[in-house]
Amino acid sequence: MLCAAPALLDAFAPLLRPNEPLAGRTSFRIGGPAEWLLEPATEEEFAGAWATACRAGLPVHVLGGGSNLLVSDAGVPGVVFSTRQLDGKPHAQGSRVSVRAGTRLAQLVSFAAQAGLAGLEGLAGIPGTVGGAVRMNAGGRHGTIGPCVAAVRSVDRAGSFVTRPGSEITWAYRSMDLDEPIVAVELALTPEEPRLIRERITANLAAKRTVQPTELHSAGCFFRNPPGESAGRLIEAAGLKGARVGEACVSEKHANFIVNLGQATAADVRALAERVRDGVRARFHLSLEPEVRYWPETRA
Ligand code: EPU
Repeated sequence: MLCAAPALLDAFAPLLRPNEPLAGRTSFRIGGPAEWLLEPATEEEFAGAWATACRAGLPVHVLGGGSNLLVSDAGVPGVVFSTRQLDGKPHAQGSRVSVRAGTRLAQLVSFAAQAGLAGLEGLAGIPGTVGGAVRMNAGGRHGTIGPCVAAVRSVDRAGSFVTRPGSEITWAYRSMDLDEPIVAVELALTPEEPRLIRERITANLAAKRTVQPTELHSAGCFFRNPPGESAGRLIEAAGLKGARVGEACVSEKHANFIVNLGQATAADVRALAERVRDGVRARFHLSLEPEVRYWPETRA
């Protein structure tokens, strides 16, 4: 147990779970436990516990949908803050939609379609939560979430809420420059006939199912696309489709997906990712960078 945990225990004991397994909370279904998991039900609870943990100097992590994450087999020291209970139905006012960070992205996408509000169709089929999607500037060929974000509400280390307009955030490829837990988001969308929005969603979902191994556990695209290139194409051209370490495998369907065949460990995935990097480096003199986040950052 961490010596600083009692500070948190005193005030937030009913919310804290020691040694909580994380594998089932990730799309990879891999990894050890969180030393402590804290799942606040309100933004205020979240902010108070976050400030207490930061003040105590505990290592802190934020867990959304766990869909871009590789948790080490040994687990994660410190406190993992889950946003799972910060969810709820999105709320529309005109073409603005407010939503809590723990709401599933899929729920937001279908809510917007039903409300006749366009802009999020490119996010159809992407797993995870709204907070995670904003933090990673999730997206694909048909757009990312960043341009639709009107405002982001986050919590600073002192436990105060900060609201930033989307226009003041720097949105980049699968990243943005706000490194604070996000608790709520406001989107600015464009009115359009629901039928047309739904048609685009259906087409995007079908296209995804054709080229991606959506039926297997994975963390989506494993590596970032190098500028002007496709990591999947490079990995395939390096002859690595089907490469395997333990039960981790480079998907035969899309080479930028590492899939869990059932009992893969984080160490299997890390070793396979290294083999892929080495193979692509040897063939193309190019170093692939993971898009997937490792917890903790130095170990598998
Ligand atoms: N390709 C191959 N072999 C493969 C995979 C792809 O040759 O195994 C070729 C394709 O034929 C195509 C090109 O590579 O010519 C690009 O492939 P694809 O259209 O599948 O797109 P991608 O660049 O691999 C990106 C995002 C995905 C997103 C799709 C569709 C990244 C790293 N990947 O994939 O995002 O879903 O476009 O919009 O940005 C994610 O971020 O987790 C993710 C899956």
